[in-house]
Amino acid sequence: MKALVLAGGAGTRLRPITHTSAKQLVPVANKAVLFYGLESLAEAGITDVGMIVGDTAAEIEEAVGDGSEFGLKVTYIPQDKPLGLAHAVLIARDYLGDDDFVMYLGDNFIVGGITGLVEEFRRNRPDAQILLTRVADPRAFGVAELDASGQVIGLEEKPDRPKSDLALVGVYLFTPVIHEAVRAIEPSWRGELEITHAIQHLIDTRADVRSTVIQGYWKDTGNVGDMLEVNRTVLEGLPRRIDGDVDDASETIGRVVVEAGARVVNSRIVGPVVIGSGTVVDNSYVGPFTSIAENCRITDSELEFSIVLRDSSILGVGRIEASLIGRHVEVTPAPSVPSAHRFVLGDHSKVQIHS
Ligand code: DAU
Repeated sequence: MKALVLAGGAGTRLRPITHTSAKQLVPVANKAVLFYGLESLAEAGITDVGMIVGDTAAEIEEAVGDGSEFGLKVTYIPQDKPLGLAHAVLIARDYLGDDDFVMYLGDNFIVGGITGLVEEFRRNRPDAQILLTRVADPRAFGVAELDASGQVIGLEEKPDRPKSDLALVGVYLFTPVIHEAVRAIEPSWRGELEITHAIQHLIDTRADVRSTVIQGYWKDTGNVGDMLEVNRTVLEGLPRRIDGDVDDASETIGRVVVEAGARVVNSRIVGPVVIGSGTVVDNSYVGPFTSIAENCRITDSELEFSIVLRDSSILGVGRIEASLIGRHVEVTPAPSVPSAHRFVLGDHSKVQIHS
């Protein structure tokens, strides 16, 4: 069994964090979402991975390399334009050959991995198996309709009026019959060859399409609250590990990870917290559910339930909570006179201030 991982898509993004980089590399607990996917494929006993890449190919290839760090053999498959998930299957035809495969969308995060699902698929070997999860707003997803016995009877891509709250999760298990289905469909209103339509084609031609409803699913929808929550869930499972330097004046409590090359000076860290290598936390408090990425400076400040991406500094600003701070960001105090806030905010930024 092989895997087809989709890490393509256009380089232009609308969300603050993915303006300038691949959305599959958004970090959760200081690790790219894509890496969790690759780890769960390796855990499920898969080694051969075809990786679809687009505009951000260089960034993805730099991060993943040949896959050996994950115990995988990664073959890159360039896609000229993001013409759809089923298009990705079309162009991977030679790579996939006649093998069964897991198709994994690189921006999806599944808590607890996929080993059980892959084993179930190997045992029963239906033509296709899809994963579903209940979501608050199904209009942003593919949506499944099930009959009373739980059998999938219809799928729609991003419907205005969803027939259920069961969204298609971006992990699909296929036998080679999917190759005929992706050739049989036409592009959708958004100009993409939709995998949802290819699976609907399988249902229409009476193929055996099964579904499993899962919990613990997340994808980057640009919603900061959701991102802080998934970060919290992952941090809760991290074992304590202090590889960096913590001086005698500092205290680290509970599940705290201080990576090699990080420094904690005269500070109090209450886990779960992860502090990336090259980061210096000085004279500060870092509270539960906080991820600070590499090469940051946190000085004379307090930070809790937040995510800070790499190369950012927070210097002398008091307390920050429930915040997502991007790369190369500087947060510093304003001069006391005049009493005014000063901002340089990128597109789509959101700021809450005391007025
Ligand atoms: O995330 C789950 C959803 O993924 C499903 O509920 C939908 O049914 C499915 O169509 C898909 O919807 P999105 O519109 O959110 O997919 P998106 O364009 O974000 O692409 C998903 C991943 O695949 C992302 O990592 C980029 C990559 N991709 C996407 C396209 C369209 C490619 O590599 N090539 C492509 O042509």
